[in-house]
Amino acid sequence: MTPNAKVSRVALIGSGFVGASYAFAMLNQGIASELVIIDLNQKKAEGDAIDLNHGIPFASNMRIWAGDYSDCKDADIVVITAGANQAPGETRMDLISKNAAIFKKIVDSVMQSGFDGIFIVATNPVDVLTYATWKYSGLPASRVIGSGTLLDSARLRFELGSRLQVDPRSIHAYIMGEHGDTELPVWSHVNIASMPLNDYIERHNGPSKEELQDIFVSVRDAAYHIIERKGATYYGIAMGLARLTRAVLRNENSIVSVSVLLEGEYGLDDLYIGVPAVINRDGVKDIIELDLSPEEQQQLEHSASVLKAAIAKIFP
Ligand code: 2OP
Repeated sequence: MTPNAKVSRVALIGSGFVGASYAFAMLNQGIASELVIIDLNQKKAEGDAIDLNHGIPFASNMRIWAGDYSDCKDADIVVITAGANQAPGETRMDLISKNAAIFKKIVDSVMQSGFDGIFIVATNPVDVLTYATWKYSGLPASRVIGSGTLLDSARLRFELGSRLQVDPRSIHAYIMGEHGDTELPVWSHVNIASMPLNDYIERHNGPSKEELQDIFVSVRDAAYHIIERKGATYYGIAMGLARLTRAVLRNENSIVSVSVLLEGEYGLDDLYIGVPAVINRDGVKDIIELDLSPEEQQQLEHSASVLKAAIAKIFP
């Protein structure tokens, strides 16, 4: 770090598989100058901090330590990955009561430190817990962001890229809605290097509607398949969180699909749900309102109704 470089601090709450993988991605990509790791299991946080520090000579300089909630005061971003995760066969929504109780304590402790930055939430059910974080913190909604369908959109781009033999970075494609079983693919706005998907299909004779549906199902159910094999998912979400952190700290104005508070957009309000949004140093700068097909709009409304019912369980 140059002596006058502006210090950027990220506080990570939860050093489980997702949190530790995120810390590793942050170090490898040199996204922040300081990373404080906070976990109920202080020893795990300490072990991770020491281990990561030994990687600094192979990456770029960074201050990494195991701390406590008082370290959140000067944080630009607090990232929450703490909480129970899905056992095989469990849905994300099944975690709601366990994790909502944990979140009340976490968010209260962060706010008591005097924190006045941006929350990024990844714990499931992420849309509901991001809403809870917004409510518990009292911060403006623009400063509370959930990872939402960021990872699902990446999964969709990866799967389409494999099928079309195109670099996923040249594919624009969004999954919207709940990060979970009611999410939807926004086929009407998929493009390959600016060519609409339908034009691409005509020129290349495929993929067929059935193939696209299979791709979507594999994206929607990806977490179940990973959990069945290794008990948890963490690398993909960790890299998504690092991407989101960079969009904030570097004021990138990136458009990503994340969980944000809707206040009339898409005809919905008073819920957090995954939609494309512009992310910069202020958090959510803008929400992109895509012109959805009637079927997509109807699927989004269904997803929203499921999320609203879940929110009502915590905030009756
Ligand atoms: C995932 O989609 C489980 O939400 C986590 O990987």
